[in-house]
Amino acid sequence: MTALTLSTAAVPGLRADAIVIGVAKGSAAKSQGPVVAPGAESVDQAYDGRLAGVLETLGASGAEGEVTKLPAPAGFKAPLVVAVGLGAQPGKDSGYGTEALRKAAGVAARALAGSKKAAFALPLTDAADAGAVAEGVLLGAYSFDAYKDNGDSAKNGKSGKGPLAEAALLGGKPRDKAYKAAVERATAVAEELNRARDLINTPPNDLDPEAFAAVALTAAKEHGIKVQVLDEKALAKGGYGGILGVGAGSAAGPRLVKLSYTSSRAKKHLALVGKGITYDSGGISLKPAGHNETMKCDMSGAAAVFAAVVAAARLGLEVNVTGWLALAENMPSGSATRPGDVLRMFSGKTVEVLNTDAEGRLVLADALWAASQEKPDAIVDVATLTGAMVLALGNRTFGIMANDDAFRSAVHEAAEEAGEPAWQMPLPEHLRKGMDSATADIANMGERMGGGLVAGLFLREFVGEGITWAHIDIAGPAFNEGGPFGYTPKGGTGSAVRTLVRLAERAASGDLV
Ligand code: BES
Ligand code: MN
Ligand code: ZN
Repeated sequence: MTALTLSTAAVPGLRADAIVIGVAKGSAAKSQGPVVAPGAESVDQAYDGRLAGVLETLGASGAEGEVTKLPAPAGFKAPLVVAVGLGAQPGKDSGYGTEALRKAAGVAARALAGSKKAAFALPLTDAADAGAVAEGVLLGAYSFDAYKDNGDSAKNGKSGKGPLAEAALLGGKPRDKAYKAAVERATAVAEELNRARDLINTPPNDLDPEAFAAVALTAAKEHGIKVQVLDEKALAKGGYGGILGVGAGSAAGPRLVKLSYTSSRAKKHLALVGKGITYDSGGISLKPAGHNETMKCDMSGAAAVFAAVVAAARLGLEVNVTGWLALAENMPSGSATRPGDVLRMFSGKTVEVLNTDAEGRLVLADALWAASQEKPDAIVDVATLTGAMVLALGNRTFGIMANDDAFRSAVHEAAEEAGEPAWQMPLPEHLRKGMDSATADIANMGERMGGGLVAGLFLREFVGEGITWAHIDIAGPAFNEGGPFGYTPKGGTGSAVRTLVRLAERAASGDLV
């Protein structure tokens, strides 16, 4: 991953491949052109104060996502200036905002793929801004090349360029504790988030439940996290009918992984549950072609939970965080669960499986009940659960449901603080009766309309009495099938990781439940 440093070096003498500066939109009322953002003063001076005009000539407007490359002025050691759009200018006494900086840094880092070193001279007003630029750089520079050119694309130069190797952040205070802490936090979170992206992007023939569990085991040991893996035998002994039922059709057995990070100073316990379907073919209710090509992403919830627990450990947060990864592969075969089968779940409830493609709620039900046995202060599950949520909110926003209004708002706030688009969704009681089953306690399908909310209502039945719970449906934002934007790459995005880390931080400061 890109190496990051805070630097006080002066721009003109800086040895780098490029200097990144910010450019904002001028006031529309005054029909003003692009405006050079603070941080780029020395660059502007070297252009005799004409940098804004030069940028305008080159077609720059300052819009978010825009990249304008221009040769550095005479006397600069770096050959290239990369001007990146920041969007609208902020009010008089405020900064550009962390999300605008994060996006701009990400766009620039991606534009500089293949370069050795870049210096980021973006407008920083405080440590949080420095953290945002750091996060944007590390997330934006991400690329997944493991399956190209024998995984060594950077070296043999055949296809991928390899990520930007080194980034120096200018304009911060390298000796200031808050700045250092912000960059360290950004590094831990981004490294774990990028690892989650790697897991999501790994083809399903190389990442089955057992392989995922092995990755979790190694990382947990490295970071002092207690880990327990239940294999198919242990799951059968424990009565985990949901996870077993979903995994029954696959040659690769299911797993339930429990990761326990504990802090001696913890006052709260947060449990995180992740849907980890390493491939969702739909099972006997097979998905048609056109709906299964990206279903390696169906373990994105588990990847997010895994990343968040490891990040919490690396940051030494003063909160206990337990992660539950419900891992299975959903495949059709002679041993697969059929539509019409009844499963006895870990909670003791019976579920009539009417559609084997509604498998996520089955594995989550067992993991939610397992998490509930420890009576945590709150449970949050994350899942690529329903196509209905994608229809409702599109592919950049996740939906939040909960059994507690205040907690749902807290999760939404955490998402906003993290820079993740999110929206609160209801759990309308009238949709419950659609899941009534003639044979079992409940069916795994209900009304088609409001399918995302129906799934949420199903999960609610498997949360222990009196436990505060929220459900995050990331089916839309988990996997980016379009082109990269901001600090989001094509493919696995790492959706919800930063929200979960924010939640753990809030729990640590007693500001959650
Ligand atoms: N993994 C899918 C949901 C999904 C869809 C994730 C699109 C990412 C992108 C889930 O297991 C599923 O198949 N859900 C069904 C449920 C239905 C059968 C009740 C759906 O949403 O169609
Ligand atoms: Mn499915
Ligand atoms: Zn699924």
